[in-house]
Amino acid sequence: MSFRIQPTPVARPNRCQLFGPGSRPAIFEKMAASAADVINLDLEDSVAPSDKDSARKNTIMAISNIDWGNKTLSVRINGLDTPYWYRDVVDLLEQAGDRLDQIMIPKVGCAADIYAVDALVTAIETAKGRSKPISFEVIIESAAGIAHVEEIAAASPRLQAMSLGAADFAASMGMATTGIGGTQENYYMMRDGEKHWSDPWHWAQAAIVAACRTHGVLPVDGPFGDFSDDEGFKAQAYRSATLGMVGKWAIHPKQITLANEVFTPSAEAVAEARDILAAMETAKANGEGATVYKGRLVDIASIKQAEVIVRQSEMIAG
Ligand code: COA
Ligand code: MG
Repeated sequence: MSFRIQPTPVARPNRCQLFGPGSRPAIFEKMAASAADVINLDLEDSVAPSDKDSARKNTIMAISNIDWGNKTLSVRINGLDTPYWYRDVVDLLEQAGDRLDQIMIPKVGCAADIYAVDALVTAIETAKGRSKPISFEVIIESAAGIAHVEEIAAASPRLQAMSLGAADFAASMGMATTGIGGTQENYYMMRDGEKHWSDPWHWAQAAIVAACRTHGVLPVDGPFGDFSDDEGFKAQAYRSATLGMVGKWAIHPKQITLANEVFTPSAEAVAEARDILAAMETAKANGEGATVYKGRLVDIASIKQAEVIVRQSEMIAG
């Protein structure tokens, strides 16, 4: 047991992050009007190399010109292995208005990647007298990223969220897959002559959650590519929520409702959590550290579990 108190992540809803290519300004207003908590305007892999400059310009204009309501507004910059990323950071920080909340750094492989962006951002913020510091989010989507996930989670006080990017991750790991996230046809076990599918993303998700929770960062599940498969999306999202993730990306607007549903604690779950807290209050009044709730043990650890659900529900409602 460490004597250190686990840091609390930033208190803002992050149930759904809606992505849209910076090269497709026609959808920006629709993104702003959506029910997503976070908007990710993309300058990276959904933008063709020939469109990088115009996508950056569109995005900078849209940050000030569109009413993004109370959403967290984030721009995904290009990776540090490209010739585009420094221009993304410089132009965003120098030209985009104060409405920009966050920069998403893709394909991070080590803490120094974040240090490099932090140094550049800090210098420009100081030079320009920006009043609102930009926060960071990162994508773990490479073998190096998952191998160094803990140092990455600890890399900067600007870091607020960390996502798993299934497609690039699978490619970097040499996984024999083509789908973006979800169940993979060949990841199964046999029992009594029948196939049972398992979850190839499980360990990477758990590693991300552990690193994030250690350092007060929000763990987020990334994209689910097959946007015609609602049940598959929900199954993946419920697994992520069960493991401690707070939200999931939407790469198509129809995935927003699904993510919001999964990552908003249900009325039943909140009611049960409150019942458990009440049962433990009674136990405490009787001098007991453990009691029975609906035929099962609840104890002091159950208070903390129940508080996770109640706090999440109150934060979303607030
Ligand atoms: N955000 C908001 N609205 C969107 C949208 C998005 N990301 N993608 C599509 N829409 C709108 C369309 O404009 C259309 O609106 P309309 O009914 O007013 O005409 C409606 O939603 C239905 O769109 P649909 O025709 O089903 O999709 P599409 O063929 O236009 O686009 C994708 C499909 C996948 C290309 C598009 O959703 C997309 O670019 N997604 C994000 C990709 C991305 O950013 N990837 C990077 C992260 S992995
Ligand atoms: Mg990627």
